[in-house]
Amino acid sequence: MEHHNLSSLMTTKNDKIRFRVRQMTNEDVPTVLEIWAKNNLHEGTHTIQSFMIQDPEGFIVAEQINDSDDLDGNPSQTIGNASIIGMCVGIFVHPTIAFIGMYGVQPELHGRGIGLAMWRKMLDHVGSLNAGLYAVPEHLTMYRDRAGFHQPDDRMLIIYESDESDQLNVDILVPSIPETKIQRITTEWYSKVIDYDAQVHGYIRAKLLPHVFTEEGSIAFVASDTTGQRIFGYGCMRTNNIGKAMIGPLYANNGAVAELLMRYLFSRLSTPFGKGLLYMTLDSNHGGQLIADKLCLKQQEKIQRFFRFQPYEGADWNREFKSFDFLSNITLLASSKLNRWRHG
Ligand SMILES: CC(C)(COP(=O)(O)OP(=O)(O)OC[C@H]1O[C@@H](n2cnc3c(N)ncnc32)[C@H](O)[C@@H]1OP(=O)(O)O)[C@@H](O)C(=O)NCCC(=O)NCCS
Repeated sequence: MEHHNLSSLMTTKNDKIRFRVRQMTNEDVPTVLEIWAKNNLHEGTHTIQSFMIQDPEGFIVAEQINDSDDLDGNPSQTIGNASIIGMCVGIFVHPTIAFIGMYGVQPELHGRGIGLAMWRKMLDHVGSLNAGLYAVPEHLTMYRDRAGFHQPDDRMLIIYESDESDQLNVDILVPSIPETKIQRITTEWYSKVIDYDAQVHGYIRAKLLPHVFTEEGSIAFVASDTTGQRIFGYGCMRTNNIGKAMIGPLYANNGAVAELLMRYLFSRLSTPFGKGLLYMTLDSNHGGQLIADKLCLKQQEKIQRFFRFQPYEGADWNREFKSFDFLSNITLLASSKLNRWRHG
C-alpha cells in the first residue's frame, strides 16, 4: 500500500531499531488500539475511524522496519515487513484549534526517540495554531515546560469508573419526563442534532457527527419535545478497546434530560457494560457529577488540560454532561491513563 506523508528512515541510538513515521490508515487501527491498551489507555473501538474522516492528516503512526533491505535511498518505497510501534494524533475538529492525544509508543520501546519523532510529524500538521491536550500527571511538566503547552485550563476532567463486579443501579435514573420524547438519532435528525451540538460547542461539527452517530457498536439517542421541533439534548454510547462502555458525547439542557438519555443508552447498548463503565465529566459541571454520585461510580482521577495559547472559551460547558468534544474528547484524544491503577 502507498503510504502518505512517509518520513525518511530513522534509527534509534542504542539498539539500532529502524523506523519511520507516516499517516495512519484504517488498517493500522487494531494495532494502534492494542498499543493504547498496553499503555493502559482506553479508546472506543471505532472512534478513531470517525475522527480520521474528519482530519486524516493529523493521525500519525511510527512503524518499525523489519526488512533487511537498505531503504535509505528510496524513502517513498512502501514497506512489506513493517509493524506499528506507536501513534500520535493532532487533529482539527475546531477550525483553528487542534486537539492532541493518543500519544503512545509500544511499552518496551519507550525512551528511544520514537515518540518525539511522531510528535514532530504531528506538529507539521498543526503548524503554529492553538492546540489543547490532557496532561496526565507524569507527563504534565513535559507538556508544559518542554512542549510549549503553557496555558492551563481552569476546568479539570473527572474520570469515573465502574467495574464488572459493580451492580450499576440504572433504575435510579429519571425514567420519563412529561412532554419529552427519546428517539434514536436517524438521518432525519442529523441537521437538528448538529445544530444543537453547535450551540454547545460554538462551532458546527457536521462532518464528524454523522460518523459518530453510526459508529459500529454504538448507539445514539435524541431528546425532544413531542413534535420533534425542539431538542433538549442528545447522547451516544459505545464500547471501548477493553470491553467497557463509554458514554459520550452527551449534552442536555438539564440533569433530568441527561439522566433520561443515559437510561435509554444503558438499556439499548447491545453489549451493555459487561466489563463496566467509563464516565467523564468536567469539574465545572455539577449535574454531571451528581449523576456519577447517583450511580455510585468511583472517581478515579482528575486531569488537567493545557493549551499552547489561550484556552478555548466558546463552549457552553453547562450542557456538557459527558465529555466528548474536541477539548475533552477523552474517548479519542485525551491522554488519560484510564485504568492504569488496575492494569499498570
Ligand atoms: C509519552 C510517550 C508517547 C513518549 O514516547 P517515547 O518514545 O517514550 O519518548 P521519546 O523517547 O521520544 O522521548 C525522548 C525525549 O523527549 C522528551 N519528549 C517526548 N515527547 C515529547 C514532547 N511531546 N515534547 C517535548 N519533549 C518530549 C522525553 O521526555 C525524552 O526526554 P529525555 O531524553 O530528557 O528523557 C511514551 O513514553 C508512552 O507511550 N507513554 C505511555 C503512554 C502515555 O502516557 N502517553 C501520554 C499520555 S499524556
